[in-house]
Amino acid sequence: MTASDTRPLTAVRSFPPGFLWGAATAAYQIEGAAAEDGRTPSIWDTFSHTPGRVFEGHTGDVAVDHYHRFREDVALMSELGLNSYRFSVSWSRVQPTGRGPAVQKGLDFYRALVDELLAAGIEPALTLYHWDLPQELEDAGGWPERSTAERFAEYAGIVADAVGDRVSRWTTLNEPWCSAFLGYGSGVHAPGRTDPVAALRAAHHLNLGHGLAVRALRAALPAGRPQQLSVSLNLHEVRPLTGSAGDLDAVRRIDAVGNRIWLGPMLEGAYPEDLLADTAHLTDWSFVRDGDTATAKQPLDLLAVNYYAPTLVSEVAEGAEKPQDDGHGDSEHSPWPGADRVAFHRAPGERTAMGWPVDAGALYDLLKRVSAAYPGLPLVISENGAAYEDVVGPDGSVHDPERAAYVHAHLEAVHRAMADGVDVRGYFLWSLLDNFEWAYGYAKRFGAVRVDYDTLERTPKSSARWYARVARSGELTAPDAG
Ligand code: FCB
Repeated sequence: MTASDTRPLTAVRSFPPGFLWGAATAAYQIEGAAAEDGRTPSIWDTFSHTPGRVFEGHTGDVAVDHYHRFREDVALMSELGLNSYRFSVSWSRVQPTGRGPAVQKGLDFYRALVDELLAAGIEPALTLYHWDLPQELEDAGGWPERSTAERFAEYAGIVADAVGDRVSRWTTLNEPWCSAFLGYGSGVHAPGRTDPVAALRAAHHLNLGHGLAVRALRAALPAGRPQQLSVSLNLHEVRPLTGSAGDLDAVRRIDAVGNRIWLGPMLEGAYPEDLLADTAHLTDWSFVRDGDTATAKQPLDLLAVNYYAPTLVSEVAEGAEKPQDDGHGDSEHSPWPGADRVAFHRAPGERTAMGWPVDAGALYDLLKRVSAAYPGLPLVISENGAAYEDVVGPDGSVHDPERAAYVHAHLEAVHRAMADGVDVRGYFLWSLLDNFEWAYGYAKRFGAVRVDYDTLERTPKSSARWYARVARSGELTAPDAG
């Protein structure tokens, strides 16, 4: 809540009919079946099998075995009252080499999943790329190479041909910032490269790939069916440590390389001038060809926002020691090219098990800011949620009031933004199930549903039962309201 909000917290807040109540997952985090039915390794298979990359050597080989248990998982979604489910497609499951013909068995899995969802009255929301590039494409240069963007558009067409008659909600990329800057900059994500120029090249080819994929989708999707095309960005709500000019400039830099590097090309058709200036000592950006940013700017039906925590920054004073923990994992290499003189701080107060501060007011501010910048473009929250140290009771149940309180506070912020005129169409909880949390392996649990990693048994946590009540009624009641 901001100081100016005087409405009582206990009041029931109603969401409009048709609001999407969802949960989200990603292929590599849940599917398992890593080598089945023709699937080949993605960069996350290679990375997780490389010693020292992922916590205790965890991999997604089995994950939570969703590939074999998807019917049970769709039944869980029904139990949770969800009317939409966001999942991603594993590129190397449907197109093992990242080029050429598709593998029908891989596509059959997604056809069956979509059919199961539709039969349960749950609307599928499909993300084409949630970080798992086919290893063969990385071997050919990965996202720093232009050809990867072209391959991505072909793959988009394949998936659209397979399920376009049944899926109308499409997201091209999930959090391209992480793909580019954690994957090729700090190296804490696959493929683990640490080259700032490669990271910037990757960012551009992700922008280009997005635009080419939107075009390919529009061409392949059946005419006459309403389509909702979007991209999911982890927009950073960046705040200055003090009001000094230096700290405000630090905000500007992180906003440029965190947010406007995507919003510029995708929504405005150009890279921000200050981003080009901030990174001019690294590259002249000659990898951007004429027409690329016009291609990146395709009409979108929605902008999907992933939000977890705000970012607090300051300018590093001359000769001062620089704290570099920005909440994105340990690396001596920065994921922020052109921002060497920016320090990251952890705001005091409540944190999740990721160490991320809990600040729902920042989500409100973010939604207001984005909707003011891009009026007429509806928003959806495609991820929001929290990891906590869940305690399992003797009967296997998990009582997780912190998670419910986190989600409640953020839904309250969404509702307040809507009441103040922001067009938000839905909310997807991250995540449906406990799962493989990237470099943290299975150590961090984000699920509404607990997964016992020995038996793979699923048990809804108390937060899931509360969320189900909210989703079914469309009324945001407090978690302890029974
Ligand atoms: C986001 C990712 C998602 C999950 C959450 C916690 O950055 O998109 O896969 O890891 O963070």
